[in-house]
Amino acid sequence: MKKRLTLTLNQELSKNILKSKADVLVVGVNEGRTLNSSAKEIDSATNGSIKELMKRGEFEAKVGQTAYIATNEGTKADRIFLIGVGKSNTALNNEDMDKISSSVTSVLTSKKSAVGLVALPAMKYDSKDHSDSSLLQKLGTSLESKSYTYDAKLNKKNKSINYLKKVSIFIDSKEALAKLKKGLKTGQVVGQGMNVAKELANLPGNVCTPSYLATSSRSAANKYKKLSCRVFGEKEMKKMGMDCLLSVGNGSAQESKLISMNYQGGKKGDKPYAIVGKGITFDTGGISLKPPATMDEMKFDMCGAASVIGTMQVIAELNLPINLIGVVASAENMPGSKATKPGDVVRTMSGKTVEILNTDAEGRLVLADALTYVERFNPRSVVDIATLTGAVIMALGYSTSGLMSNNENLAKELLEAGEKASDRAWQLPIWDSYQKDLDSNFADIANIGGRAGTITAACFLSRFAEKYPWAHLDVAGTASLKGAAKGGSGRPVPLLSQYLIDKS
Ligand code: BES
Ligand code: MN
Ligand code: ZN
Repeated sequence: MKKRLTLTLNQELSKNILKSKADVLVVGVNEGRTLNSSAKEIDSATNGSIKELMKRGEFEAKVGQTAYIATNEGTKADRIFLIGVGKSNTALNNEDMDKISSSVTSVLTSKKSAVGLVALPAMKYDSKDHSDSSLLQKLGTSLESKSYTYDAKLNKKNKSINYLKKVSIFIDSKEALAKLKKGLKTGQVVGQGMNVAKELANLPGNVCTPSYLATSSRSAANKYKKLSCRVFGEKEMKKMGMDCLLSVGNGSAQESKLISMNYQGGKKGDKPYAIVGKGITFDTGGISLKPPATMDEMKFDMCGAASVIGTMQVIAELNLPINLIGVVASAENMPGSKATKPGDVVRTMSGKTVEILNTDAEGRLVLADALTYVERFNPRSVVDIATLTGAVIMALGYSTSGLMSNNENLAKELLEAGEKASDRAWQLPIWDSYQKDLDSNFADIANIGGRAGTITAACFLSRFAEKYPWAHLDVAGTASLKGAAKGGSGRPVPLLSQYLIDKS
């Protein structure tokens, strides 16, 4: 994990921009012939190098475009980067804001800079949802989350160094400084929540067990007065009738856990929101064993849980005036002489019985009981988050989460939150016509069926979410990254946080 990153904000475009010491100076530049004031300052201090780059057509200052100025004479900064912010009279949209914040972040983190200085000119936006403060929110999130590195299990000499320590941002804005600062802070806290989720995701399955998730939820709760945590072990779950959840961990030496976090930021009687995460700390498939290739990636099968634990800390850190329940249903799915077998029938906490046709469809089994468990809180809405199906990757790839819901209004709010936070989801239907795919001759419901794998998985969950507005996010494709960047992505912490911020 990384050291603290300090972000500071100043509204006055510093007259001392050339005199401030920094490893890297990043200057926002408008497209067109007239340079904005900070660009003009840098230009004249560097013998007209910005104008020269523009004249040669090497830098047009299109939104998100970057350029490097090799000279540093006339400034106290070791390096200067230009960032295009588009024409001064064009309104920036959500995507433009993403481009600008990710370009600023990438130039600040590309070289071994510790201290950065960012000067942004006055900008215009295309809607009332977009503003300097929301741009700063995006920048806060990307700076914080991009400076995360995983090295928990590396030798001392292989530990990575986090160079970026301090970034001072100057923005020429008409918004109140308090609002701008709040945007930046909010963004940074969301980035920290993403990093919490990434760290849990990246830890190996032999470290990050159900008990480990319980311990780390407890220590998160200890950091905040308004956040508490209760952990149920197998004996307690047995008493509550959670045989379905327990059936998943039967083959494992690790004890299954149900973790219940409670954030009380609202009034006592306010109905809480609830988020419920799938926390399979390793998914071998059980007796329906998975093939060996890429099975290591099944340590990421607790990413739903990690996003719940990360989001609880975001909401607590922001001190939002809402009540929020965070539940993690955690088990390790292993084969073994005590493991559940295909054809076994188990009783859920709701009373419905389930025929387990495939032990690799285990996420829905742990979630079924967790969804029944949250009924006791009389929640305003319940969102579950799960790396539930490989099929969602066939449907939506690695960039978009699948969303299914029994409530159109909730679905719409979540889709919008994802759009705003650039952590997008796309809705799939869970029409009644799919439900019959789960018919069983031997129990009330089967745990698999039909060809539409992502939808029938959600249909299964919907049977246990009849008492409240509910939505399900299938994050199998989005919660972790592949290839050279293999690791947790921190998603969908931004979507969940944005939804709850907009609700408060
Ligand atoms: N954890 C997997 C889903 C998954 C697959 C996540 C690939 C990330 C990448 C889940 O428990 C699972 O095994 N699902 C099965 C369901 C099937 C047996 C109906 C699947 O998707 O193959
Ligand atoms: Mn599975
Ligand atoms: Zn799984």
